Amino acid sequence: MAGQWFESVAEAQRRARKRLPRSVYDALIAGSEKGVTLRDNVDAFAEIGFAPHTAGLRDKRDLTTTVLDQPLSMPVLISPTGVQAVHPDGEVAVARAAAARGTAIGLSSFASKPVEEVVAANPQTFFQLYWIGGRDDVLRRIERARAAGVAGLILTLDWSFSHSRDWGSPHIPERLTARELLRFAPQGLRHPRWLASYVRSGRLPALTVPNMADLGGPAPTFFGAYGQWMQTPPPSWEDLRWLREQWDGPFLLKGVIRVDDAKRAVDAGMSAISVSNHGGNNLDGTPATIRALPAVVDAVGDEIEVLLDGGIRRGSDVVKAVALGARAVMIGRAYLWGLAAAGQAGVENVLDILRNGIDSTLLALGHGSVHDLTRGDVVVPPGFPRALGLTDAP
Ligand SMILES: Cc1cc2nc3c(=O)[nH]c(=O)nc-3n(C[C@H](O)[C@H](O)[C@H](O)COP(=O)(O)O)c2cc1C
Repeated sequence: MAGQWFESVAEAQRRARKRLPRSVYDALIAGSEKGVTLRDNVDAFAEIGFAPHTAGLRDKRDLTTTVLDQPLSMPVLISPTGVQAVHPDGEVAVARAAAARGTAIGLSSFASKPVEEVVAANPQTFFQLYWIGGRDDVLRRIERARAAGVAGLILTLDWSFSHSRDWGSPHIPERLTARELLRFAPQGLRHPRWLASYVRSGRLPALTVPNMADLGGPAPTFFGAYGQWMQTPPPSWEDLRWLREQWDGPFLLKGVIRVDDAKRAVDAGMSAISVSNHGGNNLDGTPATIRALPAVVDAVGDEIEVLLDGGIRRGSDVVKAVALGARAVMIGRAYLWGLAAAGQAGVENVLDILRNGIDSTLLALGHGSVHDLTRGDVVVPPGFPRALGLTDAP
């Protein structure tokens, strides 16, 4: 890995931009509409300060924790992302990196690698579902994940099919036909290292979603599965209660931002929620997740594990979220950029950056453990929090 090491997530992003064809890089940036939420997720962290100590600091810091019954080396997990063509080893490389650094991975239903291969690389794999098709379709996907040996389920419910961006959306083909390959060739040739990684692997990006098929069945294309999703009526809270009954292990509901929904998630029997706005890829104008976190923690933090995802780029961001009550955070773009920059080693590099950042922030704050963090460690400016859904909707 000599010469490949990078010191910040910002540098991982620069390398990803350089290495990836434009359409693949733009698909990782994603976002929606004007990008207000995309930016606020990141910028809001910079509004929070720290209250460090001077002496009496701790010479050793313990970063370990548990999330959804899984022991983790630090309060950071890999968030599920359904992306294609970043690296030939895809989610298997990410899973290996997470295992090497002692943490868990959420595997998207729209991932490029089968759940069986990812669990083999990291038994601490949570399978992420969307509500697509009827109850029977959802059940079949759960059964496959169960047979693969996943550690738990994640259900993501905040996708709202917002497809436009003021800065333009990348062209993503349904299949790499000869015509599409010709169209894509100039981009590919301008990014020889990315191209070489696929040439070495002996295969082109398949652009399919194997976990949306029955085991051994033909994998649908990304857009084929997406089309089915668009035709599916969104689930009710009753559907969620039913789904919860089908799974006796840990279950995380991802995409909660309001207090009233957090309470309903508790009522539906969830083991955890993630305060999330899908990384700013949905309803633009949704506040940054770190602004919404404190009210959700106050409402349900004693009953359920509350995670956060959105905008984490540094170890100090992780510490801010934990100080405000998150059990742990999940990261999205940060590891995708690491994967693009250097494959498995790049994801490990990103996890090391976060670990070092958490450790040095704990040192400054005078704590020996991530469990000692409190709101007194951070400086939250007036008007920062957003308490959404404090009164129950009809
Ligand atoms: C390119 C991309 C694809 C994503 N795909 C999924 C997905 O398939 N399932 C899911 O639950 N979340 C998905 N997400 C959301 C992430 O899990 C996570 O909520 C988000 O990336 C966190 O924000 P961050 O990127 O600022 O860390 C995706 C995010 C990105 C950027």
